[in-house]
This record gives sequence, structure tokens and C-alpha cells, in this order.
Amino acid sequence: MAPLFRPGTDAVLRGILALALGTPAVALAGWMWLARSPLGRGSFAPVEQPVPFDHRHHVADEGIPCGYCHEGAWRSPRAGVPPTQRCMGCHAQVWNDSPKLEPVRESWFADTPIPWRRVHALPDYVWFSHQAHVNKGVGCVTCHGRVDTMPAVERVVPFTMEWCLDCHRAPTPHLRPFREVASMTWRPPGGDAERTGRAVRAALNANPRTSCNTCHF
Ligand code: HEC
Ligand code: HEC
Ligand code: HEC
Ligand code: HEC
Ligand code: HEC
Repeated sequence: MAPLFRPGTDAVLRGILALALGTPAVALAGWMWLARSPLGRGSFAPVEQPVPFDHRHHVADEGIPCGYCHEGAWRSPRAGVPPTQRCMGCHAQVWNDSPKLEPVRESWFADTPIPWRRVHALPDYVWFSHQAHVNKGVGCVTCHGRVDTMPAVERVVPFTMEWCLDCHRAPTPHLRPFREVASMTWRPPGGDAERTGRAVRAALNANPRTSCNTCHF
């Protein structure tokens, strides 16, 4: 009796079966990749704000230091956004009839904060501290990129656990002298990040931990 299926059929069936079982796995892998990729985490997408605040004008053109508006980064867990009063220090005089600044004036006269939208946010179960990093020679640019060239702030790195741990395991080449932490353009002298980092690490006694309870309670 002739075989019901030709010999090749088995291979075809196996192929179909592998595809059927494989597709969800591929989809899942893709989804996990996306969830972890900058794209899936909203990076590279500037966040629209209630006031079109532009770091390029304030930092690059006007030369206002980061610490004038984000002084919290040096002395608390949060860098924070500046209060309206800080803006009005200049904008009561400068560009005081600009329509773009209307929400700032409203906030000032109504005594209610500007509802800035967060660009960077870790899940609640992760503990992070700015002062712990900034005072040990980790620069803003290392985690936030060239904010001074961004029309609207966007995320440039995915804040995954691996990303945090990569540096905690081997921080040396990422460290810079304390006075340079806010610089957007600093480069290690002679391009030797390892050498500069070693000196900084010793001077500031920077030894990040990798145990789970460093970042999770
Ligand atoms: C004149 C005040 C001012 C100065 C100077 C300034 N910023 Fe900002 N920054 C703001 C305001 C207001 C926001 C909130 C609106 C926004 O996201 O653009 C902000 C937002 C940010 C954010 C995103 C916050 C979030 O929601 O995650 C980062 C990162 C940041 N600034 C870094 C810097 C760095 C680095 C410097 C120095 C190179 C700097 N800023 C200088 C006012 C300032
Ligand atoms: C040290 C002074 C200073 C401070 C503080 C300051 N600004 Fe400005 N801002 C300026 C100057 C100067 C310009 C014009 C810059 C330019 O066009 O190059 C400007 C421009 C702007 C513009 C654009 C206005 C337009 O019509 O194009 C906005 C919006 C703005 N600032 C918002 C803010 C907000 C919000 C804050 C507070 C977080 C703030 N500024 C704090 C000096 C300041
Ligand atoms: C080691 C990485 C790292 C460094 C260095 C760093 N930041 Fe951040 N920044 C973060 C993370 C992570 C968040 C989100 C924190 C959260 O969700 O609790 C953040 C949030 C912010 C915010 C939003 C408000 C807030 O406090 O959560 C601002 C503004 C900011 N950073 C500015 C700065 C400035 C200015 C510097 C340098 C003086 C700096 N950061 C250095 C990682 C860093
Ligand atoms: C580029 C390097 C670098 C990156 C990226 C980095 N860290 Fe750190 N971290 C450090 C250094 C350096 C210290 C200081 C260690 C010390 O105090 O000796 C530190 C310290 C800490 C501390 C200790 C605070 C304390 O009070 O002891 C916490 C918590 C922490 N980091 C969390 C994080 C988290 C969460 C991320 C990712 C979102 C992150 N770090 C990304 C370098 C880094
Ligand atoms: C340097 C900081 C840091 C350390 C140390 C750390 N984590 Fe995390 N962890 C994070 C961050 C940041 C996230 C959030 C990642 C995200 O949003 O994708 C996270 C997320 C997680 C999650 C949620 C699931 C996931 O993978 O996103 C688990 C579970 C976790 N960590 C367990 C641990 C355990 C167990 C250890 C010790 C072996 C540890 N973590 C050490 C920073 C850290």
C-alpha cells in the first residue's frame, strides 16, 4: 500500500509545528527586548511641557549653571525642578510679555507650581540618590546626555538594572573630578578615562556596592 504521506511531509509538518510554537516565543522575546530598549521606554521622545522651556537657551546661550536650577542634585536624593520664583527672578524683567511665558506668570500670580511632566522616572521599588553620585564624580552628562543641546529634555539611556550595575561593577572609567560633574563637554586629559578615573576614585573614595539592598529595600 502506498504511504498516505510522502516522505517530505513530515519535515513540512515539523516546520509548521516549530513555527506555531516558536512564534509566541519570538513575540515574547521581541516584547521583552522592546520593553528594555530605549524605544519601548520612551527614550528619544522629548516630553511636551506646559512651558516650552529650552535648556539650549538657558544653559548654552545664557550660561546658567545646572546647579542654579537643580541644586538638589548636590545635596539631596532629588535634583528637583526649580520653583517658579527662580524663573521670575529673570522673567519679571526679561521677555516679560512673551506669550510662551504666560503659564509661568499665571503660576507666579496664582501661587501654584508649574505642572512639569517627568522625563526620567524609576519604578517605586528602586532607590536612587543624586547626591551619592554627583559627590563621587559621576557627571550629569553620563546619565542624562547633552541636555545643553536638547530643545526639550529626552532620555538618552535606558535606566535598566543592568545599566546601573554595569557601572557599579566597574565605575573607574566613568568618574571625573568633582568640579567637572556638571560640565557637558569635559573630556579626560589625554583621552585616558581609566587613569583619570583611578585618581578620582582614590581621592573621593568611590566604591559603589552591587548587593541587592543598595537599590532595593
Ligand atoms: C534656568 C533653570 C535651569 C537650568 C540652568 C538647567 N535646568 Fe534642567 N530643567 C529645568 C526645568 C524648568 C526643567 C523641567 C522642564 C523640562 O523637563 O525641560 C528641567 C529639566 C531637566 C531634566 C529632566 C527632568 C526630568 O523630568 O526627568 C534634566 C535631566 C535636566 N533638567 C538637567 C539639567 C542639566 C544637566 C543642566 C545643566 C547642564 C540643567 N538641567 C540646567 C530648569 C533648568
Ligand atoms: C538667569 C536668567 C533666566 C532665568 C533664571 C530663566 N530664564 Fe528663561 N530666558 C532667559 C533669557 C535671557 C531668555 C532669552 C534667551 C534666548 O532667546 O536666547 C529666556 C527665554 C525663555 C523662554 C523663551 C521665551 C520666548 O518667547 O521665546 C522661555 C519659555 C523661558 N525662558 C522659560 C523659563 C522658565 C520656565 C524658567 C524657570 C525654570 C526660566 N526661563 C528661567 C533668562 C532666564
Ligand atoms: C548615575 C546617574 C545620574 C546622574 C549622575 C545624574 N542623574 Fe539626574 N536622574 C537620574 C535618574 C535615575 C533619575 C530619575 C530618578 C527617580 O525616578 O527617582 C534622574 C532624575 C533627574 C531629574 C528629575 C527630577 C528628580 O530629581 O528626579 C533632574 C532635574 C535631574 N535628574 C538632573 C540631574 C543633574 C542636573 C545632574 C548633575 C548635577 C544629574 N541629574 C545627575 C540619574 C542621574
Ligand atoms: C556611571 C556610573 C554609575 C551609574 C550609571 C550608576 N551608578 Fe549608582 N553609584 C555610582 C557611584 C560611583 C556611587 C558612589 C559609591 C560610593 O559612595 O562610594 C554610586 C552609589 C549609588 C547608591 C548608593 C547610595 C548610598 O546612599 O549609599 C545607590 C542607591 C545607587 N548608586 C543607585 C544607582 C541606580 C539605581 C542606578 C541606575 C538608575 C545607578 N546607581 C547608576 C556609580 C554609578
Ligand atoms: C545599582 C542598582 C541596583 C542593584 C544593585 C540591584 N538592582 Fe534590581 N533593579 C534596579 C533597577 C534600576 C531596576 C528597574 C529596571 C527597569 O525599570 O527596567 C531593577 C529591577 C529589578 C527587578 C524587577 C524586574 C526586572 O528585572 O526589571 C527585580 C526582581 C530586581 N531588580 C531584583 C534585584 C536583585 C535580586 C538584586 C541583587 C542581586 C538587584 N535587583 C540589585 C537596580 C538595581
